[in-house]
Amino acid sequence: MTDFLKGYSVQYWLESAPQGYLMDTEYGHAEGEQEPEAVLNNEVLREQALRSTVQLVLGERCALAASSGLINAAPDEASKRVLATQTLDEARHVEVFTHRLYDLGVKRGELETVISDFANPNLVKFAEVLLEKVDQKDFVAGVVGQNVILEGMAFHVFEMMHAANEKVNPKFGHTLAGTIADERRHVGFGENRIGSLVREHPERKSDIERMQREMSYYMLATFGEAFRQGPSPEEVQQALEKEGVTRRSDGQWQGVNLGDASPEDLEEVLGDTILKEFKHRLERIGIDYQTPIQP
Ligand SMILES: [Fe+2]
Ligand SMILES: [Fe+2]
Repeated sequence: MTDFLKGYSVQYWLESAPQGYLMDTEYGHAEGEQEPEAVLNNEVLREQALRSTVQLVLGERCALAASSGLINAAPDEASKRVLATQTLDEARHVEVFTHRLYDLGVKRGELETVISDFANPNLVKFAEVLLEKVDQKDFVAGVVGQNVILEGMAFHVFEMMHAANEKVNPKFGHTLAGTIADERRHVGFGENRIGSLVREHPERKSDIERMQREMSYYMLATFGEAFRQGPSPEEVQQALEKEGVTRRSDGQWQGVNLGDASPEDLEEVLGDTILKEFKHRLERIGIDYQTPIQP
């Protein structure tokens, strides 16, 4: 077991992240990069950016609570160290996305109000299901919930947002790129470490499968709401035209043109991509994927 964890040592983490792809960054992006003028000047575009960033802060706060909480539940020393590096990654993610809220004009004293005003209630539920396992010091379920399900979801959400923003908002694109690189490591750890534990504890399977179904349900409900709340596509289009921006994005993701896709198309491609990936990952660690009921 220690061998595969070599790729997850503190030394490896230092060399690849802080001394690697995060070198010379400031809150996850290049020094001096700013949000586009159109987003800062237009209330519709700004609200849309605030709303989506709040969900990222909430997801990352959950990941921070989960990865730090799992350190003392981990059965072996190597996993504790991996989770310690992950804890710092998650704290950084909370910080960079919180900082984006400040960059979008949120005042320090308003932060928690803005977060609770825009929080997607299904995402809050999703986090609660996972954090209950962490509170019970249930390492196997906690790692499946965190490193397979939460991060499997986050990874694809970030990738889609990255494709959409890379050209139109390089500052946010860079913040997302560093986060994606961190998440890739976290997802790899979950899969590598947990497969053997699930084999050693087959009696835990049904409980984990129940948690997976519940989390998947709240995830789909989160997306269902996320793509319908806030400014409508027409309002966003008008706001962009008013600001002299021709398209909201020229990015492509999973064969979908993000600049023209409807909220329904986006919801479908995101949900399908994530659930397909869950199935493969869970299969590899010996868990039978449970299809959630449709929200
Ligand atoms: Fe994260
Ligand atoms: Fe993560």
